[in-house]
Amino acid sequence: SRVISLAVIPGDGIGPEVVTEGLKVLDTVTDGGDVAFEKTTFSLGATRYLETGDTLTDDDLAAVSRHDAILLGAVGGTPGDPRLAGANIERGLLLKLRFSLDHYVNLRPSVLHPGVSSPLADPGSIDFVVVREGTEGPYVGNGGSIRQGTQHEVANEVSVNTAYGVERVVRHAFGVASARPRKHLTLVHKTNVLVFAGGIWKRVVDEVAAEFPEVTVDYLHVDAATIFLVTNPARFDVIVTDNLFGDILTDLAAAISGGIGLAASGNINPDGRFPSMFEPVHGSAPDIAGKGIADPTAAILSVALLLDHLGLTDAAARVQAAVAADIAERGEATRSTSEIGTAISDRIRAH
Ligand code: NAD
Ligand code: IPM
Ligand code: MN
Repeated sequence: SRVISLAVIPGDGIGPEVVTEGLKVLDTVTDGGDVAFEKTTFSLGATRYLETGDTLTDDDLAAVSRHDAILLGAVGGTPGDPRLAGANIERGLLLKLRFSLDHYVNLRPSVLHPGVSSPLADPGSIDFVVVREGTEGPYVGNGGSIRQGTQHEVANEVSVNTAYGVERVVRHAFGVASARPRKHLTLVHKTNVLVFAGGIWKRVVDEVAAEFPEVTVDYLHVDAATIFLVTNPARFDVIVTDNLFGDILTDLAAAISGGIGLAASGNINPDGRFPSMFEPVHGSAPDIAGKGIADPTAAILSVALLLDHLGLTDAAARVQAAVAADIAERGEATRSTSEIGTAISDRIRAH
């Protein structure tokens, strides 16, 4: 039997609440099978920072890296908490993990499940995946500020786009598109204004397209992409875009397809040199933390992405089917975080 080591980072706020349900479902779907998950929990996040002053030490990073995969809840304290001023948990923990573990593919699928109400009057069929670059762009910390705090301050945050980095994520996105029925890829950027960064993305997409003649390709400026995500999301199959555009578009994608409580993601290192990390798209939601009302579905669907990534496609499909069935019958009834996790687990057990 196969043993898979899983690093679990529950994090802050609703992170631990939704991760508990994700693990409940993982345990159910692997129960009695020949794959066992050996879990190590890492207490990292704002809570840990406030206790010890550490965000992610070299030892933490080395220990997390020794696992086959990572499940993360959410990190980040209450925005504006003065005790966190100067600490940047998002950069020092979440982005440090994504960068150190070379998670250059941030995979964010959006599906409007039957029975889910979209805020769009006429959503049509929503089934697309955003391939967001995960290690470059304006996220890398290539910036600075001079004369800070004065009227003469100049603050720069420069986007980094390397030929190596753009090409590998674009090639991966073509592979994703090629494996889907519609085989369509949309590059989203802002080539009319960001001529250098946009230029390299456009050129690389055109070059790699030659290797994937079965994939149709189009291009949208990011502002127009937000229009079409609202007016005609059915036009999208695979979107490839940079780190920041991808961040923004995937919150919108979540909102049109049933809400942030359903949106799952994978931070993937396709080379397999480092463990990939799976997490809901949402954050620590300080406004509802501790109330037991967070929707754990995004965390549970992130577990499905994790299973899929590890080649456990059957288990992944069982989780997805149970979630789809639960969502279809959800209605307006309010259930607690743990009631939702238990209902999905029960469906898996019953099948
Ligand atoms: P957020 O995603 O935490 O919350 C936005 C809104 O969505 C809130 O009203 C919240 O209650 C709601 N929401 C989020 N998840 C939900 C769920 N599962 N069920 C029901 N409602 C849900 O975004 P924010 O408020 O901008 O950020 C809060 C903190 O989280 C910040 O510190 C931020 O930096 C951090 N953050 C972390 C991650 C991550 O760990 N991956 C992602 C985004 C934000
Ligand atoms: C996300 C989050 C992160 C991001 C933040 C918290 C660093 O918004 O996972 O979408 O911008 O990538
Ligand atoms: Mn985001």
